[in-house]
Amino acid sequence: MHLLALFVVALWPLPLSLSQLELPDCPDTSLTDYLVALIDALYANGLTTFESLITSLSETEGGYDLLSSWYNSQSTLTLLAPTDTAFQSAGITPPFKHLSEWEMVNLMSLHTLDGQWDYEKLPAYPLHSIASTDLVLAEAMNSTVNTTASQVAVLQQAQDGGNVVQVKADNVTAKSWSGLVNLSAASQLWNLQVLPIDSVLPLPPKLSVALTLPTSSRSANGFNNLTSLLSSSSTSPSMSDLEALTVRGFTIFAPVDDAWENPDVKVALNDSTLASNHYTTTYSLYSTAWYGPGQFLNLTLDSGASVDVVYNNSGNFVVMGDQSTQILRSDVLLENGVLHIIDKVLLPISSTPTSASTSPTSGNARPSESVPNAPTGPIQPITTPSAITSGNSTGSVPGEKDAQSSGAGILAVRFWGVVLALSGTFLVSL
Ligand SMILES: *[C@@H]1O[C@H](CO)[C@@H](O)[C@H](O)[C@H]1NC(C)=O
Ligand SMILES: *[C@@H]1O[C@H](CO)[C@@H](O)[C@H](O)[C@H]1NC(C)=O
Ligand SMILES: *[C@@H]1O[C@H](CO)[C@@H](O)[C@H](O)[C@H]1NC(C)=O
Ligand SMILES: *[C@@H]1O[C@H](CO)[C@@H](O)[C@H](O)[C@H]1NC(C)=O
Ligand SMILES: *[C@@H]1O[C@H](CO)[C@@H](O)[C@H](O)[C@H]1NC(C)=O
Ligand SMILES: *[C@@H]1O[C@H](CO)[C@@H](O)[C@H](O)[C@H]1NC(C)=O
Ligand SMILES: *[C@@H]1O[C@H](CO)[C@@H](O)[C@H](O)[C@H]1NC(C)=O
Ligand SMILES: *[C@@H]1O[C@H](CO)[C@@H](O)[C@H](O)[C@H]1NC(C)=O
Ligand SMILES: *[C@@H]1O[C@H](CO)[C@@H](O)[C@H](O)[C@H]1NC(C)=O
Repeated sequence: MHLLALFVVALWPLPLSLSQLELPDCPDTSLTDYLVALIDALYANGLTTFESLITSLSETEGGYDLLSSWYNSQSTLTLLAPTDTAFQSAGITPPFKHLSEWEMVNLMSLHTLDGQWDYEKLPAYPLHSIASTDLVLAEAMNSTVNTTASQVAVLQQAQDGGNVVQVKADNVTAKSWSGLVNLSAASQLWNLQVLPIDSVLPLPPKLSVALTLPTSSRSANGFNNLTSLLSSSSTSPSMSDLEALTVRGFTIFAPVDDAWENPDVKVALNDSTLASNHYTTTYSLYSTAWYGPGQFLNLTLDSGASVDVVYNNSGNFVVMGDQSTQILRSDVLLENGVLHIIDKVLLPISSTPTSASTSPTSGNARPSESVPNAPTGPIQPITTPSAITSGNSTGSVPGEKDAQSSGAGILAVRFWGVVLALSGTFLVSL
């Protein structure tokens, strides 16, 4: 686009006034002012690779659209700006010839958060929050599925405090150490915040890759048994079916390998619904959906069974009939949804020895046929940015580090993992 000419000149220092620049086709000089103020501020703070990336984006159609959307945003956006060193470590260097326009736009979109996010907006460690990003899943996956769902980012205060924010992405934790860049001199950037971070965020992996990563101490070698089950020919949907984009996302509860040693599991292996008893291809359920209200009811899995996800003083649990499994870590991001690590295999009701004797009218047992197909309640958190923009950090939950505190009146929770919050509610994960 024609901003190219501007940015070639406008890289710091900025000796020319805008009136001296030839911008015959520039559709909006206010947008130009905005972008010049931004690259100026980034340069002044040593974020020169990030600044160059914005400049390069302005020269492409998709990038120009993204930058325009920042300018037009009525609510605050937070740019996670990797340092020059971070970009270098990731092998991303100007003039970005090795990146396609599509890759550059995806990269920048993933680093653009809805809302203002900084240390003060996050709950106390080990809780975590979930922020919506500008990365639209359908675009990132080149999918024609008609959905506006976007990727999220998981943010958490550092264990040692110190104003350090960590952004957790599968095997990478990006840290900010000095808070938001002071943009008070740039009045044009009224709706923008910049948070420098020390790593480039990777795009969340596909399910098959996520299942190989060491995402918790109980799954240090990945999820080999679950992988075998999902890859076995007897499972009707293939792994790649589960990696596809759907309108409202994908959620999988992934049992750790040691959970498969239970003798009941061996029996259940012959049940064709064992695999589909662990996921839904119709919904991305982030921990914020159950943590704030304390529970998320009637999530229907692809097997037809339904689960309640419960948060209480003992932790986070997935409850299916009379089975209850603890969530060891919530909100492991996937390319097309989210994964939660659990400590037991969810046995199909038909192969649960005890379920036959459970009265369908008992408090715990819930016949799947009475369950609606779609969950109601606080659904689709990722498609409603307005619900996410505040970065509101009320209702935090204590973790093992401060089990005596009483955030939201909830005590003595033992989590050795992270916790999240979305739209004012916080989720707990391992
Ligand atoms: C997605 O489409 C873009 C062009 O729009 C192309 O450059 C890119 O390689 C595609 N990515 C994948 C993974 O197919
Ligand atoms: C996409 O979905 C929306 C509603 O969710 C609908 O209004 C729109 O027509 C759909 N677009 C296409 C191309 O199907
Ligand atoms: C993270 O995992 C990806 C595979 O998804 C791998 O390519 C990358 O090297 C890993 N990064 C680190 C820092 O371990
Ligand atoms: C931010 O910068 C302005 C000058 O541009 C300065 O007056 C103000 O004190 C700075 N704020 C902080 C918190 O450093
Ligand atoms: C789990 O995986 C281990 C190692 O691959 C295997 O020996 C064991 O039989 C598996 N268990 C089940 C229940 O599939
Ligand atoms: C599972 O099914 C196979 C045949 O498909 C059978 O040989 C085996 O005994 C069954 N295992 C159990 C535990 O029922
Ligand atoms: C969940 O299902 C039960 C019946 O099994 C019903 O009473 C309850 O209202 C449902 N809850 C929601 C949130 O749909
Ligand atoms: C929390 O919920 C789980 C699952 O329903 C249950 O097993 C556990 O006893 C509950 N803990 C407390 C303290 O209520
Ligand atoms: C945060 O949420 C609480 C309760 O929902 C509300 O009272 C408060 O005004 C919110 N704060 C901000 C900054 O949005």
